[in-house]
Amino acid sequence: MVADRTAVVTGGGRGIGQAICIELAASGADVVVADIDESAMEETKQLVEDEGQRAVTIKTDLQQLDDVQQTIDEIFDIFDSVEILVNNAGIAGPTRLCEEVTAEEWDQTIDVNLRGPFYMCRELLPGMKDQSYGRIVNIASVTGKRPLEQRLPYATAKMGLLGFTRTLAAEVGEHNINVNAICPGSVYGPRIKRVFEEKAEATNQTYSDIRKEAENASARNELVSRKDIAQLAAFLCSDNSTRITGQDINVSSGKVMY
Ligand SMILES: NC(=O)c1ccc[n+]([C@@H]2O[C@H](COP(=O)([O-])OP(=O)(O)OC[C@H]3O[C@@H](n4cnc5c(N)ncnc54)[C@H](O)[C@@H]3O)[C@@H](O)[C@H]2O)c1
Repeated sequence: MVADRTAVVTGGGRGIGQAICIELAASGADVVVADIDESAMEETKQLVEDEGQRAVTIKTDLQQLDDVQQTIDEIFDIFDSVEILVNNAGIAGPTRLCEEVTAEEWDQTIDVNLRGPFYMCRELLPGMKDQSYGRIVNIASVTGKRPLEQRLPYATAKMGLLGFTRTLAAEVGEHNINVNAICPGSVYGPRIKRVFEEKAEATNQTYSDIRKEAENASARNELVSRKDIAQLAAFLCSDNSTRITGQDINVSSGKVMY
């Protein structure tokens, strides 16, 4: 589906990003993993190579433009072109009321979730335009579509990411570059476990109450798997989705339907 393509996946060291790297590799792409956590990327590298594809890992802090530019230079020292970008890296930010959020927490949450995708697109778009081909997938959230109390910086960033997706899609469509967003619901894994634990503490409920509440909030009464997200990402990165652009697609077991 994406044979002979080179894909860059931010935050591919673990979680959803790792699943996306594996799915893209299984579909025939070589994968560049750009993540701030150097040690986490080793496992992803091995898993991509197990699929018979080339894997390159580059330590990148998406909050730093210099770092992103250096990463792009390193990529083009190795590969002639990049066809696919998955802006997956994100952080949950604080679970607190607006007036208890620090300026540093606000900046960091907006920077990783929103400025990171901007930097990556800014640096990779000229090459995509030159080759008249690009597939960009932004991993947003259902929290980009409806409020989530006590998660103001995260919700603001993900809502911004949907506006970014639509506006960029309109800008670059004529260059055969598609830009779409995936909005996961609660994806089971270590990150959501942490989020549930923090919410339990913030609201004086038990962990299992919070988890049940999240499951029951969806039509299917279940959380989502990383592979669910990865399969849609691989489809949106392929030539089977050519006329889908500027969209935000929920993978939420029916938690959000708009
Ligand atoms: N897990 C969920 O339930 C869920 C739900 C909706 C949306 N999402 C979104 O999916 C994406 C992936 O989430 P996840 O659950 O796999 O998270 P995760 O915490 O398991 O993985 C995130 C990855 O991003 C990397 N990262 C963090 N800060 C970085 C930075 N400054 N520069 C480069 N890399 C950085 C981390 O090292 C990590 O490898 C995020 O954008 C998240 O907001 C997740």
